[in-house]
Amino acid sequence: MKQDVAKVPGPWAGLSVKLITAIALVILLIEIAVFLPSLANYRAGWLEDRLRVGGVAVRVFDAVPDVMDLPAEITDPLLEAAGAIAIVYRREGQTDLIALQAVSMPETSHLADLRDPNPLALIGAALDTLVFGGQRTLRIVGSPPGAGDSVVEVLMPESPLRADLITYARNIVMVSIVIAAVTAMVIYVLAESLLIGPIKRLTASMLAFRQSPENGTLILVPEPGRRDELGVLERTVAETQAELFAMLRQRRHLADLGLAVSKINHDLRNMLTSAQLLSDQVANLDDPQVQKLAPRLVTTLDKAIAFAQTVLDYGRQQTSPPRPQPVDLRALGMEAAVGAGLVGHTTIAFANQVPDDLVVSVDPDHLARVLVNLFNNAREALEAAGPAIAGPEVRYRADAGEGMVTLLVGDNGPGLPPRARENLFIAFEGSAKAGGTGLGLPIARELVEANGGAIALREGETGTVFAITLPLPGAG
Ligand SMILES: Nc1ncnc2c1ncn2[C@@H]1O[C@H](COP(=O)(O)OP(=O)(O)O)[C@@H](O)[C@H]1O
Ligand SMILES: [Mg+2]
Repeated sequence: MKQDVAKVPGPWAGLSVKLITAIALVILLIEIAVFLPSLANYRAGWLEDRLRVGGVAVRVFDAVPDVMDLPAEITDPLLEAAGAIAIVYRREGQTDLIALQAVSMPETSHLADLRDPNPLALIGAALDTLVFGGQRTLRIVGSPPGAGDSVVEVLMPESPLRADLITYARNIVMVSIVIAAVTAMVIYVLAESLLIGPIKRLTASMLAFRQSPENGTLILVPEPGRRDELGVLERTVAETQAELFAMLRQRRHLADLGLAVSKINHDLRNMLTSAQLLSDQVANLDDPQVQKLAPRLVTTLDKAIAFAQTVLDYGRQQTSPPRPQPVDLRALGMEAAVGAGLVGHTTIAFANQVPDDLVVSVDPDHLARVLVNLFNNAREALEAAGPAIAGPEVRYRADAGEGMVTLLVGDNGPGLPPRARENLFIAFEGSAKAGGTGLGLPIARELVEANGGAIALREGETGTVFAITLPLPGAG
């Protein structure tokens, strides 16, 4: 599948939409949490009002010896004031009742007991009234203040309560919507200006910069004086972009220079090759002076051509990805030693101490080039030291360890000169010999690392020992 290029999110995928949805949901939840208890509270207050009117009526009961005998002209207005059909008064084993003359008593009634102040039950009762309270008759039961433990019941239709509750609920919902809208707007505007705006700016800048990092005008200009995390982020992004911009420009210049060097090198090599042909012919002349100088001329030209060729190769070198396959390390070492002119050398001995059966999965061409470079260096160092070294020898060994194998290439030569030691593995810098390019070790390191291994100088050994660590197949 093709990798998607990052782009600015569409209007519905952006942070703004997520934020405003989350804010709206939270406000809605908060409002429901406030709405339900306040509805229950309103209903309880409404009922208590009715009960209080009932309580007033009850005082009349207390004053009159026989309530049942009271005429309707007195009781009906009392009941109408409370909105009631009937009022019942119970005290000390005695029950009194007055009822509207014209209305017959309903058979069933719905109990609203104000002596039970359970808040959840009150919320449930309020919702119950809203949904089912159309036709029922309510029986409000409670003890009005100052009436001791006597109980007053007020019987009345539920519909007025329901109508009032609906009006109240509608008002609350309207106010809530207004509050929610205003709150959401304020929070959104704040969040937009404090968070989302800067994040959008950062995102857009990163995307644009990634498209054309060579365009310096696309570098982010951080909001001045911003000291919070986003301010730090903006400044860091701006600095990173500026650094990338500079690095990119420098790299382009280096690439141009490299191209120029390789062109010069190419022409130089061709000229040197012509000179080599001429010098070969000169060497054939009979003049004894010429016979004396010609060999030195030929070697110098050979060296110069080899130098130009190595530099050309380095510039041209495409790091072809490694093609690992099982490689017999002992056999590969032998091959490389032949390539480096160690096998059959007149003075230097080559000791191949790698066991027969040691096989790793690695690119054989890459590892062979690494070994040839190391063997060449060892041979050159031993040759330069000459008879100063007794029994000059190059040793090729292996240490099999946990999940990896270490190849050791060592010699008993003079050791690394300071210049080489200080610039170990740095291209063009590490050479401490005439005609050296300083490319052998850096190339070796590049190849070893491309194959997942590591190369390092072994300290504390006589002569020079390089250790190449390679992962064994099957190991992480
Ligand atoms: N086995 C060795 N013994 C002594 N000196 C070495 C050895 N291997 C490398 N060197 C030093 O390290 C330098 C860098 O080596 P290298 O990167 O192969 O470049 P070059 O061989 O072209 O000079 C050499 O010039 C040499 O001085
Ligand atoms: Mg070398």
